[in-house]
Amino acid sequence: MTNQLQSFLQKIAESFNQKELIKITLGNKRSKSADLKNVFIKPVLIKNAPKLSFTYRNPTQDIFKNYDLKESLILIEKMLQTDFFNADLFTAANDLHLSADNSETIKIITRPATLAVKADTLQHDKTKNRVINSGTANYLKELGITTAEGLVKKDMQDKFKQINRYVEIIEGIIKDIQFDKSITVADMGSGKGYLTFALYDYLTSNLKKDAAVVGIELRDDLVDKCNQIAANAGYSKLKFEKGTIQDASLPSVDMLIALHACDTATDDAIYKGIKANAKVIICAPCCHKQIRKQMAPENELKNITKHGILLERQAEIVTDTIRALILEAHGYKTKVFEFIATEHTPKNVLIVGTKSVKTETEKQASLDKVKGLKVLFNIKDHYLETLF
Ligand SMILES: C[S@@+](CC[C@H](N)C(=O)[O-])C[C@H]1O[C@@H](n2cnc3c(N)ncnc32)[C@H](O)[C@@H]1O
Repeated sequence: MTNQLQSFLQKIAESFNQKELIKITLGNKRSKSADLKNVFIKPVLIKNAPKLSFTYRNPTQDIFKNYDLKESLILIEKMLQTDFFNADLFTAANDLHLSADNSETIKIITRPATLAVKADTLQHDKTKNRVINSGTANYLKELGITTAEGLVKKDMQDKFKQINRYVEIIEGIIKDIQFDKSITVADMGSGKGYLTFALYDYLTSNLKKDAAVVGIELRDDLVDKCNQIAANAGYSKLKFEKGTIQDASLPSVDMLIALHACDTATDDAIYKGIKANAKVIICAPCCHKQIRKQMAPENELKNITKHGILLERQAEIVTDTIRALILEAHGYKTKVFEFIATEHTPKNVLIVGTKSVKTETEKQASLDKVKGLKVLFNIKDHYLETLF
């Protein structure tokens, strides 16, 4: 490690320890083809321990990770050696700009501070501003997330974070979609209704939409409980219906959601969304069993699928790729990304389809890709395909 880089890391450590660190940005990637564009780093308090929160900016997703100082310094050093030429360190005392070049000459320029430490720079994760207001949302009490005083229960912190993250993601997805003042939403396999309530709250309270949301759920007890909570909250257009996703009657819907609907229930949900002409379809699939049983490639891929765990992961990837392609073949633009840190839930891949304009040739090209994947993996049928 050069002296310059060492002294830069030393400055990070000093400013962090003196609570003067405001933020660090890493940029100017070394390889033009690398996906990782930037990394933003800021101090945070996690369960009262000071940490550094890293935001890894990729073209289709941001990944968030928290590290302690020691781990952070190792990561920053490594990224400056392999991923980025530049780093900017903003502290209350001054700003430091580090630039490296291919010959590993490192220059550091120090300038007067341009940013001030805000009172909330070390924002506690519990007090962070969230889209869903834990203090005023009464349904959160009845769902067992908050106490009578409106504070998030200790063992529900992760759930509350997850709900907010879902809503933030949906906020990002729908901001560019034209909806009327009224909006209809179906949540397929709504379960305990955590997200269904939060989404209704967000659409009606934050966006001031005339929202009608229906949760479709197999289990009677959950449907009854959720309908009771919705009635108590005065949510007149939030309803839960007992039934299967397969049999749900959705004449038309603006947004269709299916989070963790098991195995082919996700396919049933996507099918219903496409048939109901949904402007946006959002699914977080789980337990991908259907094509796993069929996958028996007769090519080099068999080196992967002969291992149970790798077959399982490969089946997940192929299943979701085909789902995305089928959405594309029906005129949707798709994005597939991780939406929540794996420590919160391992089922963290989101498939998002937004209605778009596609030519018949483009649609056919997507179907041809499905065909190609099926041949490659020796798959007879993908359940979603069979529904059409
Ligand atoms: C893992 S939970 C997820 C609940 C909720 N979407 C969430 O993410 O918090 C899956 C729910 O879907 C329901 N479910 C599974 N298959 C279904 C089907 N075919 N039709 C309706 N509901 C279904 C289950 O009863 C369960 O409540």
